[in-house]
Amino acid sequence: MGNPILSLKDACLTLSGNAGSIDILHNITLDVAQGETLALVGPSGSGKSSLLMLMGGLEQATGGTIYALGQNLSILNEDALAKFRLNHMGVVFQSFHLIPTMTALENVAIPLELAGVKDAFEQAEAELCAVGLDTRLDHYPSQMSGGEQQRVALARAAATRPDILLADEPTGNLDGATGQVIIDLLLGLRETYGTTIVLVTHSSELASSCDRTVQLADGRINMIEAQRAAE
Ligand SMILES: Nc1ncnc2c1ncn2[C@@H]1O[C@H](COP(=O)(O)OP(=O)(O)OP(=O)(O)O)[C@@H](O)[C@H]1O
Ligand SMILES: [Mg+2]
Repeated sequence: MGNPILSLKDACLTLSGNAGSIDILHNITLDVAQGETLALVGPSGSGKSSLLMLMGGLEQATGGTIYALGQNLSILNEDALAKFRLNHMGVVFQSFHLIPTMTALENVAIPLELAGVKDAFEQAEAELCAVGLDTRLDHYPSQMSGGEQQRVALARAAATRPDILLADEPTGNLDGATGQVIIDLLLGLRETYGTTIVLVTHSSELASSCDRTVQLADGRINMIEAQRAAE
C-alpha cells in the first residue's frame, strides 16, 4: 500500500458516563488505501459506528493516533475538524442527521454553498435525481420514508465529492432494488472520482462488493479479509 489515506494506530475509545467509563474500541490499527472500498461488519454493539466516528473526527480517540490525508485528527479543534470534513469528507450517519426544517433540496445544497459552489441548487437537484428522489425535492425529512431520508443523506455526503466517504449502513433501510442503485452509486463514485469509501453494513452483498472487509467483535478487529487483491 502506498501512503494510506486513513491510518489508525492503536486507536482507542473510552467513553465516560454516569455508569462509569466504558471501553468501546481497543487498539484499532488499520490503514485504508486511497481509492479503497472497505466494509466494516460485525454484530450490533461491536463498535462499527464508533469506529466510523473516529475516522471522521466526530469522536476523539482517547488513545492512539488517527491520520486522515496525512493530518493528525487528534490535534485539531472542533472548528478545524469541521473545516477539514467540509473539504475532504462526506459522512452518512446511521440516523441520517438531516436538518428537519429544510427540504431535501436544501439539505443537499447547503454544504455545497458552504463549499463555495456557485450552482449549488442545480447540482443538489442532480444529486437527488441520481438517488431516485427527483419527485421529493421539496419534501421535508418528516415527509419522507426512512429509505428516502437515507438517500438524501447519501446525496448530501457525496455532493461535495469528498476524498473520503464514511457511510453508516447506507443500504440499511432500502429494498433490494433501491439498495442496488445505492451500491452502484457508491462504487461509481470510486470509479469516477477515486473516492475512498468506508461503510458499515450488515449486508453480505454490499460487503462483498468492497475491496476488503474488517470484522469487529467487542470493539476489536477480529478479522480482515480481502475480496480483491490490493492494486
Ligand atoms: N455515547 C455512548 N455512551 C456509552 N456507550 C456508548 C455510547 N455510544 C455507543 N456506546 C456503546 O458502544 C458500543 C458500540 O456501539 P456502536 O454504536 O459503535 O455499535 P455498532 O457496531 O455500530 O452497532 P449497531 O450495528 O447496532 O449499529 C455499544 O456497546 C454501545 O452501547
Ligand atoms: Mg451502528
